[in-house]
Amino acid sequence: MKSSVVVVGSFVQDLAFYTKNFPRPGETVVGDFRPGPGGKGFNQAIAAARAGIPTLFIGAVGSDGSAHRIRPFARDAGLHTHFVEKPKHSTGAAVITVNGAGQNQIIISLGANLGLKPRDIPAPLLAPAQVVLCQGESDYATIGYVLRTARRNGAITVLNPAPMRPEFDPAVLRHTEVLIPNESEFTALVKQCPSCAALLRTAPYDARGEFTEETLHALTAEALHRLCRCLQVPVVIVTLGARGCFVSQPDVYLRINAHDVEVVDTTGAGDAFVGGFAAGLVKLKHNIFEAAHYASAVAALSVMQPGTAPSMPIAREIARFLKKRDHK
Ligand code: RIB
Repeated sequence: MKSSVVVVGSFVQDLAFYTKNFPRPGETVVGDFRPGPGGKGFNQAIAAARAGIPTLFIGAVGSDGSAHRIRPFARDAGLHTHFVEKPKHSTGAAVITVNGAGQNQIIISLGANLGLKPRDIPAPLLAPAQVVLCQGESDYATIGYVLRTARRNGAITVLNPAPMRPEFDPAVLRHTEVLIPNESEFTALVKQCPSCAALLRTAPYDARGEFTEETLHALTAEALHRLCRCLQVPVVIVTLGARGCFVSQPDVYLRINAHDVEVVDTTGAGDAFVGGFAAGLVKLKHNIFEAAHYASAVAALSVMQPGTAPSMPIAREIARFLKKRDHK
């Protein structure tokens, strides 16, 4: 089996609660409970596989039978899996609350995901990939190893630095060709980047050099592009939620609007975008802008359904959606 997309990342059991309003501190609210498979890595792998691209997911679980239980779901999506069991860890778990507006709050325990080490990743599994994808729910040394190896193999390396953890190691950016942060992750990356700091003290940025999500939203496309360039990664795609995304390549940039759809649950929308982007790269001959356009459709379809991995659309739905929207 040769996989065009290989995702090395997290598998998490999502414990999702749907309620009208988020509980305030000290308050108890009643909601609907829907458990399901998740984890940013697994969600992204499901998105790529359901988009019709041969995809392999490599991840770690505890010895609680998760790997066994999840196989039928992965198989139905056409996803190949390589689970490593970590008996000393528990499988990752997340408590997710979703309010009536489809917004979410997540607490995650990464568990076995942080136990996935370079020695757990057989080199031949990475070798045939056109695109190799990692996220911030793995050990940073493992992410660095995977991206470095994949790049040596000639694959396109994609990093979704979500969530930005305090231990973030900027060295992983050296092996990254496409970086896909959301607004808060981009803000955090900019704040810890020395050359960004120098740029931020010049006009049209804030003279005090401060950078917040509000500052980010107020930037012109040209100013945002210059900031992306400071991160020294060939391609930076900032996802901006309902505002769409911003794609910065060395000499060219583009803003892509989000599709206006009825939102049920935004949880996993970023994962739908990233997995859809990886699939789009393979489908669309590595064209970055076209892959980002494809990814926006995958994300739009995912927010119309509840859940994370289960909300990822299939290739036929994506094609139908794009056909309709592109002819409007
Ligand atoms: O991006 C959504 C995912 O974040 C959820 O599936 C949850 O497991 C957390 O990893």
